[in-house]
Amino acid sequence: MPSANMNVMIKAARKAGRGLVKDFREVENLQVSVKGAGDFVSRADREAERLIKEELRGARPTYGWLGEETGTEAGEDPTRRWIVDPLDGTTNFLHGMPHWAVSIALEHKGEIVAGVVFDPAKDEMFWAEKGAGAWMNDQRLRVSGRSRMIEAVFATGVPFGGSRHLPAFLKDTARIAPITAGVRRWGSAALDLAYVAAGRFDGYWERGIQPYDVAAGVVLVREAGGFVEGLRKGESPVESGAILACNAGLFTTFSETLRAAD
Ligand code: IPD
Repeated sequence: MPSANMNVMIKAARKAGRGLVKDFREVENLQVSVKGAGDFVSRADREAERLIKEELRGARPTYGWLGEETGTEAGEDPTRRWIVDPLDGTTNFLHGMPHWAVSIALEHKGEIVAGVVFDPAKDEMFWAEKGAGAWMNDQRLRVSGRSRMIEAVFATGVPFGGSRHLPAFLKDTARIAPITAGVRRWGSAALDLAYVAAGRFDGYWERGIQPYDVAAGVVLVREAGGFVEGLRKGESPVESGAILACNAGLFTTFSETLRAAD
C-alpha cells in the first residue's frame, strides 16, 4: 500500500504527465515549428513543474523544494524536501521521441526515502518507498539476476555540448563496452534507473548528472534489491554528479571496472 506521501507524489506526477502528453502530441504533429519548438518545450517543462509544485506544496506546505526549473526553496521543516525534475528526457521530448518522464523524490534528513518516475507515454508508474519495495503500477520490481558481464546491458548518458566529462566517459566506455552485451544511451537518467530497478537494464552509470535527474531513481534501484553509489567511492550518488547503479550480482565487477578508469 502506498503511503499518504506516495499518493500525493503519484497524483502530482499524473497531473503533470497529462499536460505533458498533450504538449508532446503538439510537438509530434509538428504544429510547432522547429525554430519555436525549444521555447515551446521549455514552457511545457515550466508548466509541469508549476502543477507538481502546486500539488506537493499544497499537500505538504512545510517541506522544502528543489526543482529543475525553479531551484531551491527552504521549507519550515528543514528535514524534508521534494526533489523534482518535471521533464527528464527533454531532448527526446523535443525530437518527438516518446521516452521521457516526470521524476519526484522525497528526501528526509539527507536520505531519499521515496521516489516516483512516471512515463506517461507508456503509462508506466515506477514508485518506491524505503522499506516498502519498488513497484511499476501494481507489479513488484526486482533488479535482474544476471551475473555475467558479457550477458549484461548497461545504460549511460553521453556528455554533450562541450561537457568536460567527455574524456572520462570515453575511458569508461572503452572499458565497459567490450566486456558486455551492450551499452545504451536512451536519454532519460530517471528512466535508466527505473529500468535497472525493473531488471531491463543490468546497470547504469553517468557523469555530469544533477540531483533532480537521479534522486527518485536511487530509491527505486535500492528497493528493487540493487546497489547505487557515487562513481567516486564514498561520494553521494545524488549530490556528487557521478553515479553508478547495478544489480547485486555484477555490482563489484561493474564498480571496480569503472573506478579503475577514473
Ligand atoms: C537529462 C537526461 C539525460 C542525461 C542528461 C540529463 P533533462 O535530463 O536525464 O539522460 O544524460 O545528463 O541532463 O535535461 O532531460 O532533464
